[in-house]
Amino acid sequence: MTAASLPLPRPVSGADLTAHVSDEPVALLQLDVSDTAEAASAVYREVRRGRRVVAVASGGVDASARLAEALDLIGVTTARPEPGQALLNAPVSIVAGPETAIAHPRTIPARPLRVALAGCGVVGGGVLARLSTDDRFEVVGVLVRDPKKPRDPAVPGALLLADPAALLAREPDVLVEAISDASTGLALIRAALSRGVDVVSANKQAVGGDPAALTALAEAHEARLLYSASVGGGSPLIETVRRARAHGPVVRIEAVLNGTCNFILNRLAAGVAFDEALIAARDAGFAEEDPTADLSGLDASAKLAILAHEALDGGISPERIARETLSADAALLPGRVRQLSRLDVRTDSAAVAFTAVDGDSLFADLPDEWNALRVTTGDGRVFTARGRGAGRIPTTESVWADLTDLLASPSQRNAADRGPGRRRKCASVQE
Ligand code: NDP
Ligand code: HSE
Repeated sequence: MTAASLPLPRPVSGADLTAHVSDEPVALLQLDVSDTAEAASAVYREVRRGRRVVAVASGGVDASARLAEALDLIGVTTARPEPGQALLNAPVSIVAGPETAIAHPRTIPARPLRVALAGCGVVGGGVLARLSTDDRFEVVGVLVRDPKKPRDPAVPGALLLADPAALLAREPDVLVEAISDASTGLALIRAALSRGVDVVSANKQAVGGDPAALTALAEAHEARLLYSASVGGGSPLIETVRRARAHGPVVRIEAVLNGTCNFILNRLAAGVAFDEALIAARDAGFAEEDPTADLSGLDASAKLAILAHEALDGGISPERIARETLSADAALLPGRVRQLSRLDVRTDSAAVAFTAVDGDSLFADLPDEWNALRVTTGDGRVFTARGRGAGRIPTTESVWADLTDLLASPSQRNAADRGPGRRRKCASVQE
């Protein structure tokens, strides 16, 4: 049975049906776009599972346009085929459904998932805004460096605290870790996992140092560690490597992994001065707090180490990855240049280097802060992904997808611990 022959299902906010076209899975979604963010998230979750999507958008005359716009901000490219045109030519096709959608009631858990949020900047602030309007979650505390710093008035001051141990003492079910400090982030992740608290992290420097050790720690304590946003912002790069590995042994990874460098290189190619391009990348929320990490390849090498962990037994340490630095006076090759991260299993080499990519359809036409990935398996099969590699909206979406995955499948331990009056032992947070 093909997707085209399936009867239209009733409106829902998630995957209603899946079918296969050759070996590619297709999700058919009928969406109520009156909650545009929720509808876009439903599409995004399917895209990161590697599915083609046909989305039937209901809820107003402009439902299709609103959905397409929301997905563009996340970094999901869509097509809106005219009647009679093929639906499966694009990764995501949006077609107009009935103007009035039937609202799909959300499943509310017996009690909300208790979320401890670490970081309230570009990423943490975006996650907090989303959590604050969703009654499936309760924010129990927000860790920041300086609780007295002036902030968006929407951030509840009573939740702010500066002591990591005090955050975990609030007995969260899950820690969302999005801070700009690697050592504090790592200590917090370790402390949370050690007490069986699930973790969603965007912090590649915290996760990338030794992802295998963190995964083992999570397993030892029956906790889940998710870190999709740590690589690729909103583009599903980790998920793509996992799919490739499930197909066969990975022999090569090539990727643009730093949004800031890609943004700057695109601006330099358009004649913009280096300093001006860097300021624009910082203003847009793409660059790290210290942009040296972006420019020196440190950010990309941590991300490549995470992808290597997903691709190979044993992974690769970030210290083994050779790096080149982008600066105002760096001599770049002529043509279209990208900061390309490469791992070649057969030559046992890994590097982040400025590379000419003219003629390479995946990397040459990669606008603004976009990231892209090509993974090759031993039988020559190629898996690719592209999307917005940095910024509040795409990264929040990626964290959100991890969080809603946790919500959809509560861990055994959490389910047991979420009974009334049950207390976990306090763990200290040591750097
Ligand atoms: P920001 O600089 O915007 O925010 C960082 C937050 O971390 C701030 O709230 C800051 O507190 C807090 N913080 C920093 N150090 C400490 C500390 N020692 N203890 C407690 N809180 C601390 O960073 P981003 O939101 O951009 O990035 C957060 C994380 O997400 C980083 O690891 C980054 O690499 C990663 N990431 C970022 C992406 C992006 O596009 N920006 C995309 C993907 C991942 P205060 O507010 O008081 O300063
Ligand atoms: N500073 C990072 C980048 C953020 O520019 O890619 C996303 O990880």
